[in-house]
Amino acid sequence: MTTVTSVRTPRHTLIQLSDTHIVPDGELLYGRVDTHANLESAAHAVADSGIAVAGLLLTGDLTDGGSPAAYRRLREVVEPLARQLHAPVIYAMGNHDERAAFRSELLSAEPTTEPCDSVHWISGLRIVVLDSTTPGHESGYLTASQLAWLRDELARPAPDGTVLVLHHPPIPSPMLVVELMTLREPDRLAQVVAGSDVRIILSGHAHHASCGLLAGIPVWVSPAAAFGADLLSPVGRARALRTSACSRIDIYSDTVVASVVPLAPTETLFDNDESEMARHIDRTPTTDRTSAIDQAPVIDQASARQGQAAC
Ligand SMILES: [Fe+2]
Repeated sequence: MTTVTSVRTPRHTLIQLSDTHIVPDGELLYGRVDTHANLESAAHAVADSGIAVAGLLLTGDLTDGGSPAAYRRLREVVEPLARQLHAPVIYAMGNHDERAAFRSELLSAEPTTEPCDSVHWISGLRIVVLDSTTPGHESGYLTASQLAWLRDELARPAPDGTVLVLHHPPIPSPMLVVELMTLREPDRLAQVVAGSDVRIILSGHAHHASCGLLAGIPVWVSPAAAFGADLLSPVGRARALRTSACSRIDIYSDTVVASVVPLAPTETLFDNDESEMARHIDRTPTTDRTSAIDQAPVIDQASARQGQAAC
């Protein structure tokens, strides 16, 4: 008897906005890019989707120059969105940010210059944020005390596991200028997270989407909201593109899925009723498929190759 395959639904959906590079009002990034408009576009897209977002993760380079005015512009877009979603906003430092202004303007905290590490809970999901910046440097680094703090925190597993957030990717970049600015000595982080309940490591910084592994844990590098790095730049060149994107991170009970969501203004190709489309999708269980394959006539390989060539 044929039964309908169950649809898997995520336990938590997070929206990751990285590298927003907000500048003060009246300015454009590189004199040409309205990063505030990109952020507003992202906020509208998230709000209009109606998706149950469990949290907004802003993973560094939130402002381009670290000015208090730029942080206020960011907050004025992000926090109303969070209220509408009934979801927390979790901020991480990037190398373009300034710790003192970041603390005072986004966290309403004392403007100290200590690393901004933090722990947040979304139901049973733990979000650990590491400040991978070193003031005055573009590459990332985690101090021994930060890694010791992380080891202590991870000693107690979370019911739904942990998402680790840091701006600098702990994996290589295929673009030379990005590779030179990734996390230094990633093996030190790998030793701490190995065997822990960290389910995915989320980063930004590269301005291109990538995935990889650290100690067997998936690492997701989000594309940027401000502009994109072109991984097909001609050899010897580092080309930037006028693109904008965010990431959608879906946490399932048994896996994690990270997806790129393009945000640049674009033409809608189709806009169909999803339930109508779902009716036309083959949802036969694999057990029934196996029996169908078992009963299929045997086709000799020469005929099969002829058939392929004709296709
Ligand atoms: Fe950036």
